[in-house]
Amino acid sequence: MTDESPSRESGANLLTEQPALYEARFPDPERIAGRWVDAVLRRHRSGPRVLDAGCGTGRDAAHLHRAGWRVTAFDLAPSMLAYARAHHPGPRHLRADLREFTLEQPVDAVLCLDSALLHCHRNEELAGFLDSCRRALSPGGLLIAEMRNGAFFLGRTELLDAPSTFTLDWAGVRHTATTTLRLDRSAQLLRRLRVWRSDDGSPPVAQHSAWRLLFPQELRALLATAGFRVLELHDGPGPRTEPRWRQDGPPPTGSADGDRLHLVARLDA
Ligand SMILES: C[S@@+](CC[C@H](N)C(=O)[O-])C[C@H]1O[C@@H](n2cnc3c(N)ncnc32)[C@H](O)[C@@H]1O
Repeated sequence: MTDESPSRESGANLLTEQPALYEARFPDPERIAGRWVDAVLRRHRSGPRVLDAGCGTGRDAAHLHRAGWRVTAFDLAPSMLAYARAHHPGPRHLRADLREFTLEQPVDAVLCLDSALLHCHRNEELAGFLDSCRRALSPGGLLIAEMRNGAFFLGRTELLDAPSTFTLDWAGVRHTATTTLRLDRSAQLLRRLRVWRSDDGSPPVAQHSAWRLLFPQELRALLATAGFRVLELHDGPGPRTEPRWRQDGPPPTGSADGDRLHLVARLDA
């Protein structure tokens, strides 16, 4: 085995296995994602009960809790939930699956941020998520999602099949990740191979991840079928766009050309 061939394969994601590393890689010290959601909830006059589905480290849920919303948050990864409970307390944290979940009490809004929704790969899984949202939401409740835009990859071959590298110094160890994206066209998935190497002598680790490529018109059709009316669907500004969303910034462009999609939909009452 050479240094070039990863000695371990992992279906899990190092960044979700080690939530502190996830926050180091994607810092949000000003809590822009949480503030963006807070502004969307207010703009659409949401009721107080909010569910963060696929909450990750829990920092957005905790921000919303501090802002006065009654927040429940869930994730499938036990490591994320443990981290959220320890580092971002306040919300109620549950272990649940996006693809099918049931709540004991209804909520007024469901959030699904940073492409968590795109972990629903198959049409049945997307339908399972939307069915679960419909069961969980009060009449007229909101679905707010923020994710990669599948349409952004159309014609952008320079983003694909070419390795890119980033390094991250964390807990005294330098981690280097080499990432290659490719399209699985028939499954409509963006597949990522990421190989991690660390300077602490541990062997390289290869990780395989995939996201559903959802297109704006496809999303509209799925939502209409599930009984949701689209109120907003645009490419930003949002919490992960360049330039980033600001409270006093310009309104959304209205187009859906960029690399992120921002969705607000209302469950038909
Ligand atoms: C990119 S992270 C986003 C986390 C968080 N929403 C944020 O914006 O920081 C995606 C999250 O989705 C979670 N996830 C993936 N598949 C899931 C599933 N089927 N059910 C629940 N959570 C899932 C992962 O564990 C991870 O925490």
